[in-house]
Amino acid sequence: MEVIIKDCAENASNLAAKIISGFIKKKPDTVLGLATGSTPLLVYKELIRLHKNEGLSFRNVTTFNLDEYAGLSPENPSSFSSYMKDNFFRHIDIPSLSTHIPDGYTKDLQSSCEEYEKKIAASGGIDLQLLGIGEDGHLAFNEPSSSLASRTRIKTLSEVTIKANASAFGGADKVPRHVITMGTGNILESKYCLLLAFGAKKASAVKNMVEGAVSASCPASALQLHRHAVIILDKPAAELLQNKDYYNYVYQNKPDWQRYE
Ligand code: GLP
Repeated sequence: MEVIIKDCAENASNLAAKIISGFIKKKPDTVLGLATGSTPLLVYKELIRLHKNEGLSFRNVTTFNLDEYAGLSPENPSSFSSYMKDNFFRHIDIPSLSTHIPDGYTKDLQSSCEEYEKKIAASGGIDLQLLGIGEDGHLAFNEPSSSLASRTRIKTLSEVTIKANASAFGGADKVPRHVITMGTGNILESKYCLLLAFGAKKASAVKNMVEGAVSASCPASALQLHRHAVIILDKPAAELLQNKDYYNYVYQNKPDWQRYE
């Protein structure tokens, strides 16, 4: 795991956008795995700026989102489909047929999960997966106790996650209880994982993910098993890490050819 601690969420997000745009410049048909929530918003903002001002094109990029609520139509303003259109897709030049979000609105959720996996495989697999982390250590909607080998499937949200996402629905009682999510096993198959976490409320989950035991109790700890997992934090999210100084030392002393900035 590479742990990078930046002084604020904006600088952390700009670095993440730089890494993503580097992938696209090298491989214009990059397959991106995308995340929702408050954490990636500044990354999308910076990618949009790079598109508008610096010619970054998404014309040949394919995207797969991690998850979606069950029972919400894609037009529902609280759906992750709406989130992605509003915060990213409608501002860039990606063809809509190249963007994929699990279909949580179908009657046959099980087949929808299987179809999603087939589409990911047909695209050649995810090159870079963007991730956030839940306060309880979840990745996508893989809540604590999810198998670390899990696949795309239907999950029941924990109370912690329901509360954390309540504002998007105008109250916890309105948050759907079920979702479709890529599994931790799918996430581990992506070639490169880029996880962002900001703010003191993520510090405990970050500590468990980076320095705790690999355990289904903290699904994000599975990233310790990934060959290219890069974790970008702001200072409050890094606060509980025991080896903070070492991570900073490693980053400052990266060989030139490995530097991102
Ligand atoms: C949500 C999403 C995750 C996200 C996490 C953190 O429930 N399913 O993909 O990483 O919770 O959300 P936020 O970034 O808003 O803190």
